[in-house]
Amino acid sequence: MANGFTSILTKGDELLVSAMEHHSNIVPWQMLCERTGAILKVIPMNHEGELLIEEYTKLLSGNTKLVVCNHVSNALGTINPIESIISLAHEVGAAVLIDGAQAAPHIKIDVQKLNVDFYTVSAHKICGPTGVGMLFGKEEWLTKLPPYQGGGEMIAEVTFEKTTYAELPHKFEAGTPNICGGIAFGAALDYMNSVGFEAIAGYEKELLEYATKKLLAIEGLRIYGTSEHKTPVISFNIEGIHPYDIGTILDKLGIAVRTGHHCAQPVMDYFKIPGTVRASFSFYNTREEVDILVEGVKKAKQMLS
Ligand SMILES: Cc1ncc(COP(=O)(O)O)c(C=O)c1O
Repeated sequence: MANGFTSILTKGDELLVSAMEHHSNIVPWQMLCERTGAILKVIPMNHEGELLIEEYTKLLSGNTKLVVCNHVSNALGTINPIESIISLAHEVGAAVLIDGAQAAPHIKIDVQKLNVDFYTVSAHKICGPTGVGMLFGKEEWLTKLPPYQGGGEMIAEVTFEKTTYAELPHKFEAGTPNICGGIAFGAALDYMNSVGFEAIAGYEKELLEYATKKLLAIEGLRIYGTSEHKTPVISFNIEGIHPYDIGTILDKLGIAVRTGHHCAQPVMDYFKIPGTVRASFSFYNTREEVDILVEGVKKAKQMLS
């Protein structure tokens, strides 16, 4: 999509990205700006890990052509107010791309109700396989965007003088697709729908509250991402201890967390930290597992203090 926008943006156009993006929703836009002379501007956030909507409103202007933002931050768990982000962008005529990689496993998404121009999902975040995902795009936009790859299957007619392109969505599907990945992604979505997103959201909310309370009872533990609107992701550090050290001990105890910058270095820079320990819960986790995590963190703290 970022490639497609090369033919749409011109020098001086502006593109807004939020301060809490995954690198995958920063770097392609920086590359696009380098190709076109467009200007990248950042929607700032506060210490709770919430976007500053007033500041966002000030950044929007007739020059804004595209706004890109995640629905849920992978580093902080914040659920962003994308309904307002989308409608405010539309008021100045800008298109909006929402990165739903971390929202899709937790929230039922209705792209039509959201009136979003583009919405992306990675299959591997939602019980599916790696290397496959989904890009939703409004028909008017997908018609406007040129193909980003050439090859078989994406053509209507090929001659040495001129090639015409296939109808949507085939125009964007050059070559033999990842057929197995697509089928597996479909099965994953059927499975998630059979569990039910309402049940998932209710259960995960309780689990998040339980885990947050228990972790905060550990002295010196600070959680990054304290918005009221969160998915069950807890990013934390313990004063004076490097996140990698805690992660290594938890790993030895058989507890899987991720440590580091979570592909969101600007978020770590904002909080002036090298990284965090991140425990991500899902509908299949239990309170007992939260208890085991909390005991593990206590043990790690004791060993490293
Ligand atoms: C919020 C967010 N966006 C995008 C991505 C990147 O997904 P992919 O590796 O499928 O491009 C991730 C993966 O961690 C993510 O958490």
